[in-house]
Amino acid sequence: MKINLSNIKKAKKLLNKNECVAIPTETVYGLAGNAYSDLACKKIYKLKKRPKNNPLIVHYYNAQDLKKDCNFNSNFFKLYKKFCPGPITFVLNLNKNSQISKIVTNKKNTIAVRFPKHPVARNLLKNLKFPLAAPSANLSSKVSAVRSADVKEDFGKKIKFVLEGGKSSIGLESTIIDLRNKPKILRLGGMEISIIRKVLNKKITIDNNPSKISTPGQLKLHYSPGIPLRLNVKKIKDNEAYLLIKKIKKTKPNYYFLSKKGDLKEAAKNLYSTLRKIKKNKYKSIAVAKIPNKGLGKTINDRLIRASKL
Ligand code: TXA
Ligand code: MG
Repeated sequence: MKINLSNIKKAKKLLNKNECVAIPTETVYGLAGNAYSDLACKKIYKLKKRPKNNPLIVHYYNAQDLKKDCNFNSNFFKLYKKFCPGPITFVLNLNKNSQISKIVTNKKNTIAVRFPKHPVARNLLKNLKFPLAAPSANLSSKVSAVRSADVKEDFGKKIKFVLEGGKSSIGLESTIIDLRNKPKILRLGGMEISIIRKVLNKKITIDNNPSKISTPGQLKLHYSPGIPLRLNVKKIKDNEAYLLIKKIKKTKPNYYFLSKKGDLKEAAKNLYSTLRKIKKNKYKSIAVAKIPNKGLGKTINDRLIRASKL
C-alpha cells in the first residue's frame, strides 16, 4: 500500500503533543498514545472506557528501541528473529531505567510489547522518539476495529485523528505469550501456536482461562457485537442472522459468510467486520454455525465464545 506521508506527519505532531491517534496495524486498529507520557496514557483509558487494571500493549519499531525499557531472554530473541514484525505480543520484565508510564502497566513490573508489521505503523514508529501504547481501537468489551470507518463508528469526533491504513490484513488481535518464565500463551491470536511451538522447540502451556487474572482483557464478556450470539447452531430462529464459515449455494438474505471456501485466514480477516455489519443491519441476535477448531479457527472460536457471554 502507498504510504501517505503527510498523514503520518499529522499523526506524529498530535502524538508529540500527547494526544491520542488511531493507527492501523495488521491485526486490528490501535488507539495510540506516547507510552512514556502519563497524560497520553490516561487519555487512552478515558476514551476507551477501559478499566484501569487492564494494562496496555506497547508498540516498538524494533528490539533496539525496546532495549531501553525491557530485559530480554533467549526465547524472546528466537521468536523475535522469526516472527517480528508480526502479530505476536511478548510479556517481559521491565528494566529499572524504563521510562514507561506507570499507567500503562498498572504499576506492575511487567510489560506486553509488540512490533507491528503494517507499513504505516512502522513508518510512524520509526519517526517517533517514544514507543506507542495502543490497545485495540474499540470501546471496552466490544468488537475490535479492522477499518478506519470502524474506529470512527465507535469514537466519532472524540478521536483527534484516524490514520488510514486500509483493512487490517489479519483481522484478529495478536497472540500474547508470557516469556518471563516457561513460555505461556495468555491470549490466542493471529499467530498460530503450532508455529511458535516449532521455533521454541518445546511445550508451551496455554493459560487463557478467564477465571485467572493474568491478562485482564481475557476476562468475561469481550469482543461483543452488542447483541446476543449463540454457537454451533444448526437450525436458526426467526429474525436471526446466520453466520457461516463457508459460502453455501442455498443462501438467504440473513446468511453471512466469513469466507468463500472455508479458508480460515480469510474468515479471520472478515470476522469483526461481519459482526459489525450484522449489528448495523438491525438483527436482534446472531446464530453461528460450527467453525473448525484448528489453526486460526481456534482463535475465531475463542473470540466467539467470549462474545456469546452476554
Ligand atoms: O493485536 C493487538 O494486540 C492489538 C493491536 C492494536 O496491537 N492490541 C490489542 O490490545 O489487542 P488490547 O488492549 O485490546 O489487548 C491487550 C491485552 C489485554 O487483554 C491486556 O490485559 C493484556 O493484553 N496485557 C497487557 N499488558 C499485559 C501484561 N503486562 N501482562 C499480561 N497481559 C497484558
Ligand atoms: Mg481489545
